[in-house]
Amino acid sequence: MARLTLVRRADDRRLTDDEDWWRDATFYQVYVRSFADADGDGIGDLEGIRSRLGYLELLGVDALWLTPFFPSPMVDHGYDVSDPRAVDPLFGDLNAFDRLIADAHQRGLRVTIDVVPNHTSDRHEWFQEAVAAAPGSPERARYLFRDGSDFSGSRPPNNWTSTFGGPAWTRLPPKMNDAGQWYLHLFAPEQPDLNWDNPDVAADLERTLRFWLDRGVDGFRIDVAHGMAKPAGLPDMAHPIEVCPGLLGAEVVDPRFDADGVHDIHRMIRQVIDKYPARMAIGEIWVSDDAAFARYIRPDELHLGFNFRLLQADFDAVSVREAIERSLMAVQGSPAPATWTISNHDSVRPVTRYGGGEVGLARARALALVQLALPGPAYLYNGDELGLPNVELPDWALQDPVWKRSGRTERGRDGCRAPLPWQGSIPPYGFSLSPGTWLPVPGNWGGHTVEAQLEDPNSTLSLYRQALELRKGHNAFTGAELEWYGAPPGCLAFRRKGGGLVCGLNTSGAQVSMPLGQVLLSSGPLPPSGDVLPPDTAVWLV
Ligand code: NOJ
Repeated sequence: MARLTLVRRADDRRLTDDEDWWRDATFYQVYVRSFADADGDGIGDLEGIRSRLGYLELLGVDALWLTPFFPSPMVDHGYDVSDPRAVDPLFGDLNAFDRLIADAHQRGLRVTIDVVPNHTSDRHEWFQEAVAAAPGSPERARYLFRDGSDFSGSRPPNNWTSTFGGPAWTRLPPKMNDAGQWYLHLFAPEQPDLNWDNPDVAADLERTLRFWLDRGVDGFRIDVAHGMAKPAGLPDMAHPIEVCPGLLGAEVVDPRFDADGVHDIHRMIRQVIDKYPARMAIGEIWVSDDAAFARYIRPDELHLGFNFRLLQADFDAVSVREAIERSLMAVQGSPAPATWTISNHDSVRPVTRYGGGEVGLARARALALVQLALPGPAYLYNGDELGLPNVELPDWALQDPVWKRSGRTERGRDGCRAPLPWQGSIPPYGFSLSPGTWLPVPGNWGGHTVEAQLEDPNSTLSLYRQALELRKGHNAFTGAELEWYGAPPGCLAFRRKGGGLVCGLNTSGAQVSMPLGQVLLSSGPLPPSGDVLPPDTAVWLV
């Protein structure tokens, strides 16, 4: 691991000098709308995050990933960006951002932010100009405008579908000398895809990266990092997916994503980032082929690639082990470690995914220990450390564009995005001064608040705090390689070569013998005899 002594930024007194700090960091994803609301409008904001930095320090994470806070009509809650170099007034302003970065750095927390280079909002000035301009104009050339594929122009240019459901093309109304061209949007119609063959597009992203790097951000999460480039001629999909629940992940060759040209874009991004010390980028890479995945993390491309295998695994030892082995294999030969996550703002929360209720919670806690035992960076999603389940929302409350685009067949992702409960016994539990929050908060979350869990040694919050403290401070957590132990059916056990941490997981319905060693931490209560591991439980030993 390269350790360089760097000239520090004025504000980062408590950050280490480690150029590669991200290699084993614990990142905490802040879904900005839902974390903490300081101005009382029922929507989380930057000052809200700043007011809770003490909590994040106490939790023990190393870095934050902030979801988009840029000006946006919020059709896709900020992933439809109308100005990538400013702050939406809903969330604050640039001064608030600067204060947040400075305070986070003072506390030794790095700050990474989302960038959204595949598409803009339809309210972005470029798209407005493109709509007003004529077919074939330079303004239209920044997006993917095409004539219809039939004589009258009324059939879309190809059969691509939007990942939110429905066609990936929308037609503009006809005008004088313009039959009405179609434009491509892999997501909502309000998120037109940029044309990455146009040099303006790359130049603008470079400006955006520099803008935020100069303000002190420590890195980026690149949205749809497998998108952006499109194959020449925009060939039809062999099997158009009508409605895509969640985001991709289908085991098919998909011409909408992973076009070869995308790697030049990542090289460009890397060159910009490399001009700044100790910064990084992670890509959201939904490709099913491991070799294709590995191409994104070559030495001159992304520092890290989001790997969703653990997130997609069932609560089952075989499935979890396969996800781990495949993830480790995929990065072999690349400089990047595997990156682990079991949750994010696009997926059902682990507690619910693994069965809900007490069992779901026990399993989510167990998987958290597995995740945090693995070598390489871990990404946590806000609220998982409180054991929050997905929220069953009534139809009227649903806001995710997936709900409407799927013809109200897919409920979308709002269930994992409810505002966080901080304190007290009634909604919104200290999230906001206003009772009216952007998504309703369940009435039975009093036991889930930070306040309720902080002093309880058995709470999920305490489990995460202990796990993060050990992960950071205990020398068992070193070594990039794993060795697998034999384990009873439905169980797995691995040891980190190097430090020697042993992690055991029991997904079977029965208790099994405990792996040998001294227990450091367990995800649930262990019987006093100390020699058995109960079902739905993980343990750390040395
Ligand atoms: C991936 C993001 O995680 C998701 O929330 C968003 O809807 C799409 N990209 C489109 O930007």
